[in-house]
Amino acid sequence: MFGFRSSAAKDSSHCLLKEVGIAEINKQHLRLASYAVEFSLIVDDLSTHEPTNQDWRRIDALFSKIMRYVATHFSEEEALMQKYGYPDYAAHKKLHDKFSAEMLKLQSDINNRNIKFKKKMSSLLWDWLYHHINEIDYQYREFFLSKGLS
Ligand SMILES: [Fe+2]
Ligand SMILES: [Fe+2]
Repeated sequence: MFGFRSSAAKDSSHCLLKEVGIAEINKQHLRLASYAVEFSLIVDDLSTHEPTNQDWRRIDALFSKIMRYVATHFSEEEALMQKYGYPDYAAHKKLHDKFSAEMLKLQSDINNRNIKFKKKMSSLLWDWLYHHINEIDYQYREFFLSKGLS
């Protein structure tokens, strides 16, 4: 288990990422988590005022960065699963696709400058992503370790 603290997380369990057995993937998870923190800082800033044009530009930039990195991370994870014949690949990929579809929906809220994106994105990043890493990704740990990955 490794982790960090963020004032935006609802409780300490949201800050702790389980390590999934593959150093490179752990690194990618940490980077995703750091983007979630970056997003929370923007949300904290917006608690006192409506987003200005400059805020929206920051949000656009962060959101594109997260979208790109999520896509890279998912495809690397999926490639490993396929390479080693992970038995739950199809179900896992479905969850990745669902997350990506939710992100796309969110992108249209952001493009339309709809402030609702704050709440939706918070729950996607903190609840969905952490749940995915700690509960779903964690399930492949033993499998990859048994294949000699580390
Ligand atoms: Fe992952
Ligand atoms: Fe995953």
